[in-house]
Amino acid sequence: MNPRIINLPKIEDPRGNLSIIESGQHIPFEIKRTYLIYDVPGGQVRGGHAYRKQVEFIVSLSGSFDVHIDDGVNSEIFSLNRSYYGLLVPKMIWRSMDNFSTNALCLVLSSTEFDDDDYLRDYKVFAEEKKSGL
Ligand code: TYD
Repeated sequence: MNPRIINLPKIEDPRGNLSIIESGQHIPFEIKRTYLIYDVPGGQVRGGHAYRKQVEFIVSLSGSFDVHIDDGVNSEIFSLNRSYYGLLVPKMIWRSMDNFSTNALCLVLSSTEFDDDDYLRDYKVFAEEKKSGL
């Protein structure tokens, strides 16, 4: 699984657009948990961690923010600013989010229930585990 933007179906309608995220259909995992990030003060950074098992799909429901991802060798920045696409973040990818606009609303769909032990919060430990293929 590679980090990538996934475009969601967009049903355009004079009454307003509708987009869909269905487990196994539009994203390649079953959704176990959903959380929101919002009211982020200017200049703040979220994340700065990787997960051993968890896969995420991140969507901007309102406003914009940047997601930085890093596989231990290469890094990339994705700007999310529309609700009809999102970023798939596989397990063992370092990620952080910043550059939140005022009123940015971030939706995260997760493949796992919350488990603090799944987090890698030290980049050096992450890079070593990644390198050794743990
Ligand atoms: P964290 O995942 O570190 O936030 P971010 O990646 O945006 O910086 O979570 C922040 C705190 O919230 C941390 O103490 C764990 C807690 N938390 C839960 O209890 N349940 C959850 O589903 C999530 C995502 C976080």
